[in-house]
Amino acid sequence: MLIIGVVGAGTMGSGIAQVAIAAGETVKLFDPVAEASLRGRDMIKKNLNFLVDKKKLTSDESSDIFSRLDIINSLSDLASCDLVIEAIVENESVKKDLFKNLESIVSPEVILATNTSSISITALSNELEYPERLVGMHFFNPAPRMKLIEVVKGLRTSDAHIDYIAKLVKRWGKAPVITKSTPGFIVNRVARPFYGEALRVLMEFGTDHASLDNIIRECGGFPLGPCQLMDLIGLDVNLSVTQSVYEATAFDPRYAPSLLQQELVRAGKLGRKSGEGFYTYPVNDSDLDIINTIKKDELGSYRVRFIKNASIESLIARLTAAGINLVETARDTNIATLALTDGRTATQRAYDESISNLVLIDLCMNFKTTQRIAVSHSDQCDPIAVTQIIDALKSTGCKVTVIQDIAGMIVARTVAMLANEAADLVHQRITTPNEVDMAMTLGTGYPIGPLLWADQIGLKNISEILKHLYEHYGSSRYRTSPLIQRKSITNQKFHGAQ
Ligand code: NAI
Repeated sequence: MLIIGVVGAGTMGSGIAQVAIAAGETVKLFDPVAEASLRGRDMIKKNLNFLVDKKKLTSDESSDIFSRLDIINSLSDLASCDLVIEAIVENESVKKDLFKNLESIVSPEVILATNTSSISITALSNELEYPERLVGMHFFNPAPRMKLIEVVKGLRTSDAHIDYIAKLVKRWGKAPVITKSTPGFIVNRVARPFYGEALRVLMEFGTDHASLDNIIRECGGFPLGPCQLMDLIGLDVNLSVTQSVYEATAFDPRYAPSLLQQELVRAGKLGRKSGEGFYTYPVNDSDLDIINTIKKDELGSYRVRFIKNASIESLIARLTAAGINLVETARDTNIATLALTDGRTATQRAYDESISNLVLIDLCMNFKTTQRIAVSHSDQCDPIAVTQIIDALKSTGCKVTVIQDIAGMIVARTVAMLANEAADLVHQRITTPNEVDMAMTLGTGYPIGPLLWADQIGLKNISEILKHLYEHYGSSRYRTSPLIQRKSITNQKFHGAQ
């Protein structure tokens, strides 16, 4: 049994203290603000009582756990600790002062850990006498419930300390992923495009926020849409994470904050906590289901052709089962063509491939079971052909959402960009494919790790989507990760057999 010091008794510090006492350690919890310590203690008590009510703990177990929490009034009471974790304000110089102070209190072999979400571990350690002892332990909120902990290695952190902390958090029932100290670490870095692409789609009026969320959830299989999630996190908090990654990457345009988000924050539309963000709270259910299908004024007279692609085979099977007579050849007259997006706009692709009536469908997590399909169509497309394809898709039982003709649609560009970001972290040896996928599924609830998803879609297809986005927008935001470029040439994957 260890003695763990926790400094800062706010949201995270009290959660971390609860995790440690529940795992059998003794915790000394310090906060310079006495009421904060008491609030932290009360929060832990309340959480334990809740677990007793839910019959996850007996009241004896709860009392036993709570008895291992010791609120202390002075930092020097941490002298006997085996490990000290800080969760104080997110400010580099304040944290550095604290660590210098701690070095004068605890013995040299004691590991010091920081729960910072954005400050470089290397920077925090650079004035320490023993910089190798500083480790990042990035918990997620709420700490007692979230399984993931990013164990972050600064340039001078010792490997032995990283191994020790990774083993310790496993013992605490958590899942550690080891990462080098990089802006945003794994989760906050790889997740940037989830918000960034959504904000860009909204900026160009690709669709409205509710339809976008529906598409990401129901087609993409994500638990929450990006607008719902930004509202939940707080638009100001989400913006400040983006800003910190942007600054820490020397203003890489890939992470440039969106003007739309900045304006919402300036207007005080911070999400749930201010009563309004993308949505107005409480949310009216009908807001969540805006289906802007094209009006059907005339019965179509087109035959429906599809462009073959392994990813949509099961959708083609659903269409056939619904009695839609599909053709594969373009030679017939009066053809309406259906294809999975490859990152080009429908208008561009129709022009490049001389297709007169092109309707694109967005990527789905599972075309066999999806209950919604998003479509866009080329400017050259006859509205009757669009109507006919929508009707055909509806005959499979799916809802259909029509969006504007934007490059890469919504799910495809989001997934390609998530995979691109994850691939860069692997390419730069910041982490491994297994760890990045585990971090994203546990830390954000994504339905599948972005690299495994990219493997399933095919790295050639991902690379093609990114190339088309890059050409379309002329922005280095969409530059393809060198690792995806390399792997796609020889048809390799990130996981499993090649
Ligand atoms: P909070 O504001 O709830 O709590 C911070 C606590 O630290 C306060 O009680 C404050 O009195 C205390 N404090 C401030 N300066 C101090 C000092 N010099 N010495 C000792 N205590 C001091 O903040 P929260 O949300 O718990 O965040 C703490 C850290 O955890 C930050 O570094 C933050 O970036 C990180 N973090 C926050 C997450 C979140 O969702 N809130 C998630 C992951 C990491």
